[in-house]
Amino acid sequence: MSAISVDNVWKEYGDQIVLENVSIEVESRSFIALVGPSGCGKSTFLRMLLGQERPTRGTILLDGQPLPSEPGRDRGVVFQKYSVFPHLTALGNVLVGKELTGSRITGKLFGAARKAAVEEARAMIVDVGLSGAEQKYPAQLSGGMQQRLALAQALLMRPKVLLLDEPFGALDPGIRTEIHQLMKRLWHETPMTVVMVTHDMREAFTLATRVIAFERRRDRPEEKLRYGATITSDIPIWPPRRAGVVATS
Ligand SMILES: Nc1ncnc2c1ncn2[C@@H]1O[C@H](COP(=O)(O)OP(=O)(O)O)[C@@H](O)[C@H]1O
Ligand SMILES: [Mg+2]
Repeated sequence: MSAISVDNVWKEYGDQIVLENVSIEVESRSFIALVGPSGCGKSTFLRMLLGQERPTRGTILLDGQPLPSEPGRDRGVVFQKYSVFPHLTALGNVLVGKELTGSRITGKLFGAARKAAVEEARAMIVDVGLSGAEQKYPAQLSGGMQQRLALAQALLMRPKVLLLDEPFGALDPGIRTEIHQLMKRLWHETPMTVVMVTHDMREAFTLATRVIAFERRRDRPEEKLRYGATITSDIPIWPPRRAGVVATS
């Protein structure tokens, strides 16, 4: 489950070719780290996996099926900032996905369904290390806590694929180490495939099963629009990491 198959994908915005000829087979339960210079199309690629953008050419399959044309609950996402809603409490933020899919009409859950969802959300908040913060608003939480909350929010929907766009990039180094431990544990314990964009090579090698680099093969100013970025290296981590198999490193 949750294998991703990207075949000869191109993405153009108007005259600008952003990505060209991107092909990759991602095994289920992998943790892919995506690195590359600023502006080379990493976020664009992630948005295509999310279903927010469509490839100009080529296909993306999730478990052998074409991606639905809209973001859905099988794909969760965490951005560097603004993944959580400022006007909802921590508990409200974790619940919001369930509320919106649980009842399309009222946006509310009732009775036993709500009780179960609240219990699950509370457990998830504890699981990401935020117990006691259930009634706080994002502005009352530190950056690291907000990103923990964003992870809890995404994970409550049990996504098959978790997409992370530089989620820890704005955090202080000490906090980052802690949240890396959390991220690792969540990946081991949750049946999901992770694709994470990062600027930080150490982070890539700490967390991933495979590190993918995007780069433009031709990067002179006059070539910038005519040539997109593509996968220029694909490095499996050694010794191999396996989801659910916790090693010492
Ligand atoms: N919605 C859009 N419309 C037009 N151009 C875009 C859009 N989104 C991204 N781009 C362009 O695509 C290129 C890649 O952007 P992005 O995917 O954000 O790069 P990265 O995440 O690697 O820094 C940039 O030149 C950016 O200006
Ligand atoms: Mg980006």
